[in-house]
Amino acid sequence: MTFNLNLKDLQPYPFERLRQLTDDIKGNSAFSLIPLTLGEPKHAPPQFVVDALTDPQHIREALGTYPLTKGSAELRTAIGNWLQQRFGIAVDPEHEILPVNGTREGLFAFAQAMLSGKSDSYVMMPNPFYQIYEGAALLAGAQPLLVDNQPRLDFQQDFEHITETQWQQTELVYLCSPGNPTGQIMPEAQQQALIERAHKYNFIIAADECYSELYFDETQPPGSLLSASKAMGNPDFSRCVVFHSLSKRSNLPGLRSGFVAGDKALMAAFLAYRTYHGCAMSAHHQAVSRLAWQDEAHVIANRQLYQAKFAAVRDILAPHYRLNEPDGAFYHWLATPADDRAFARELLQQFNVLVMPGQFLARSNNGHNPGSGFVRVAWVAPFEQCVEAAERLARFAQSG
Ligand SMILES: Cc1ncc(COP(=O)(O)O)c(C=O)c1O
Repeated sequence: MTFNLNLKDLQPYPFERLRQLTDDIKGNSAFSLIPLTLGEPKHAPPQFVVDALTDPQHIREALGTYPLTKGSAELRTAIGNWLQQRFGIAVDPEHEILPVNGTREGLFAFAQAMLSGKSDSYVMMPNPFYQIYEGAALLAGAQPLLVDNQPRLDFQQDFEHITETQWQQTELVYLCSPGNPTGQIMPEAQQQALIERAHKYNFIIAADECYSELYFDETQPPGSLLSASKAMGNPDFSRCVVFHSLSKRSNLPGLRSGFVAGDKALMAAFLAYRTYHGCAMSAHHQAVSRLAWQDEAHVIANRQLYQAKFAAVRDILAPHYRLNEPDGAFYHWLATPADDRAFARELLQQFNVLVMPGQFLARSNNGHNPGSGFVRVAWVAPFEQCVEAAERLARFAQSG
C-alpha cells in the first residue's frame, strides 16, 4: 500500500505527550481537577451570534445553498472594514481577503498551496510554537527551520544567526504575534526587516495574528504584519499574509471561523487551491461571522476579563515564581524551578492542576529544547477557577 510518506514525520500532539506523561498519576482527590492546558476560550460567546446562529429561518436558507469558497461579499466587506478600523489599512475585499475555517485550517492549507515540495526548502517558525506550523511544513515536504524565542530577548526570535544559504532556501516564514505560548508582540521594525528579506530572498511571510485582540496595554494594541508592510511603503502587502480568527477574539472556537488577508497574487493562488480542496465555510457561519466582525463591544469586554484575570493571578504568583509577563494572548510561560515534566506531574499529584510542560511545545534546536524549564499555563477558565488554580500553584511553590 502506498501512502504519503511525509505522514510518518508528524510528531505526536502535545496533548498526547501529556496524556502519556500523566497516565499513571491520580490527581489529588481532595481538590477538583483544574486543567490549564488547552487554549480553548471559556468566556461566553456573544449572545447576538448565538441568536443569529439558532434562527431557524436563517438556518433553513443557508442549508439549502452551496456556499462560496471565496466567501460572501458581505463577509469580506465586514472583514475589510474591521482591518481598516483596527489597523488603519485598506485591504481590498474582492482580491485580498478570504474566509478560512479557523486559522488552524488556513495556516495548514496555506503551506500545502504555496510550497514547492522541494525537499531542501525551509519553512521558518518560532520555537516553542503552535504545532500546526511544523506539521504543515512536513506534510508539504519541506523542512522546519526553528528560530528560537530567546528568554534574553524577552522571547523575541533572533533571526541574525540564520545563514545566507538558509535564507536562500526559505520559502515560507510563519510568525506568531502575540505569541503562543510566550506572549510577546513582535515589534514593527523586526517585521519590516523580515519583509525586506522576503523581497531579497523571495519567500512568503504568513503571520498568525489570532491573538491580536487579547493584549494588556490598552495604549499599545499589537500591530499587524500588513500595517508594518504598509508603513514601509509596501501597500500592496507583497509577500505578506495574515491570519485572524473569531475563536479567541469573540470566544467562538466552535464556529471555526477566521480569515486570511494580504498579497493578492497569493490570495488568488490560495483561492484556486481552496476551491479544489472543498473547504468553503457554510453560509450561516459566514453570516454570523460577519456580525461578529462588525461588533467591537464584546471584544473589549472579553479583553477586560483577561486583563482582570491576569491582574489577579499575577498578584498571587509573583511572590513565588519568576513570571514572564506576556504582552498579549492568554498564557503564562512560567519558569519552573525543576524539570518541567516533573513539575507538571507533581503539581497534578499534589494539587490536581494540569499544566503543559514547555518541552512538549518546542523542539530541540542545537542540542537545547527552549521549552525545557517552562510550563504553559492557559488562563481561559472562569475568574474564580483561575484564582483558585493560582493559589494552588503558589502553595505548590511553597511546598517545594
Ligand atoms: C497560535 C495559534 N494559532 C492558531 C490557533 C488556531 O485557532 P483557530 O483555528 O481556532 O482560529 C491557535 C489555537 O489555539 C493558536 O494558539
